[in-house]
Amino acid sequence: MESIVSQIYALVESADNVSRLSIQRELQKVQSEIQGPHDTLMAFGNSNLLIAMLRLAVDLRVFRQLVKSQHPLTVANLAKPSNSCLEFMERVLRYLAANLMIQETGVNEYRANNVTYVLADPRGEGIAYHGFDVFGPVIQVMPNFFAENKYQDITSNINTPFQKAFNTQLTCFEWLVQNPKHFESLQKVMTALEGVEWTNGFSLLEEEVKKITPTSPPEETFFVDVGGGHGHQGIQLGKKYPALLGHLVLQDLPETINRLPPIEGVKAQAADFFQVQPIIGANFYYLRRIIHDWPDKEAVVILQNIASAMTPKSRILVDDVVLPDTGAHWQAAMADLSMMFCFGGKERTTRQWNLLADRAGLRIEQFHTYAATTYTAILVMALKFE
Ligand SMILES: C[S@@+](CC[C@H](N)C(=O)[O-])C[C@H]1O[C@@H](n2cnc3c(N)ncnc32)[C@H](O)[C@@H]1O
Repeated sequence: MESIVSQIYALVESADNVSRLSIQRELQKVQSEIQGPHDTLMAFGNSNLLIAMLRLAVDLRVFRQLVKSQHPLTVANLAKPSNSCLEFMERVLRYLAANLMIQETGVNEYRANNVTYVLADPRGEGIAYHGFDVFGPVIQVMPNFFAENKYQDITSNINTPFQKAFNTQLTCFEWLVQNPKHFESLQKVMTALEGVEWTNGFSLLEEEVKKITPTSPPEETFFVDVGGGHGHQGIQLGKKYPALLGHLVLQDLPETINRLPPIEGVKAQAADFFQVQPIIGANFYYLRRIIHDWPDKEAVVILQNIASAMTPKSRILVDDVVLPDTGAHWQAAMADLSMMFCFGGKERTTRQWNLLADRAGLRIEQFHTYAATTYTAILVMALKFE
């Protein structure tokens, strides 16, 4: 067994992100095949508790304290900031270690492991709060919502389990804007998912970036990150291609933009994507994890509003999942359901993407799949009649 485990570690060491996901998938299959019925039942019994304990541990600042310390900490050390009862803390820490969120180093003694570092980060805390405080109530009412609605697919974003859970008639985004604490948690989750792996092997972007020179006028907008949240994608892009700095625009709702500190080289602009796109003729309009938030009707309007600002050289880059006909990754299947339950949105297949683009007066020129395991891709859209 030990030699198999070392082989797996060796494999992971030289693996890129995509191969790492494949390795994890194979290990999950092995785990599900070797577990007995008792293990299966206990694992499902644990699933609700996991997210609740994560949220509790964030409140107790367990992860933050462990990553700050060079040495293992005792139960007493960890109980101090929250003034918790030691017996209670001991039981909480035992659970966290048994579920591999922290590492037990001795009797009543713990240290951080690699998971602890992820959870101690404000973005990890965002997952705890968003997953428990917003998504938690939604999934509690979800089965009854579908029973009441005769198990129909959701096509409207004002009749979803979200409205039932929060007793509101607002869409999820309208409600988030009115509940800044929860909106902030969602934005932290999105920042946690940042990355520029989508640019790898994407020659269309690389060729265009090469054309930018130091004398290119700053008002020439190259790249607009539409609904870009806290601007994490633009920041990453500017690090990879410094020539882009000064030619990047971040757009989002005023409630997001007005709370942001200045970002060097990125112009932040409040813009509603249900209004006409204010930047005319940019090279790229980038929409990451945006279209999957919306039902088809609204998704078409978002794309049409950008299409009306495009010139023949402009391209829309949709960064989303393209669902395969079989073998969807659990992350894609999970995102598909989460989008449905909260926003009336969905992940789409190649056929559904082509239909959507067509309805918006666009055509898909290229599918650049950059994470084969999760089927995440850049869909390059051009005007249909240019
Ligand atoms: C799921 S997040 C994606 C954020 C970012 N693109 C990413 O991938 O990390 C959706 C974003 O859409 C923004 N948004 C929602 N409605 C919007 C609207 N009508 N106009 C502009 N942005 C909007 C939200 O504020 C949020 O930042």
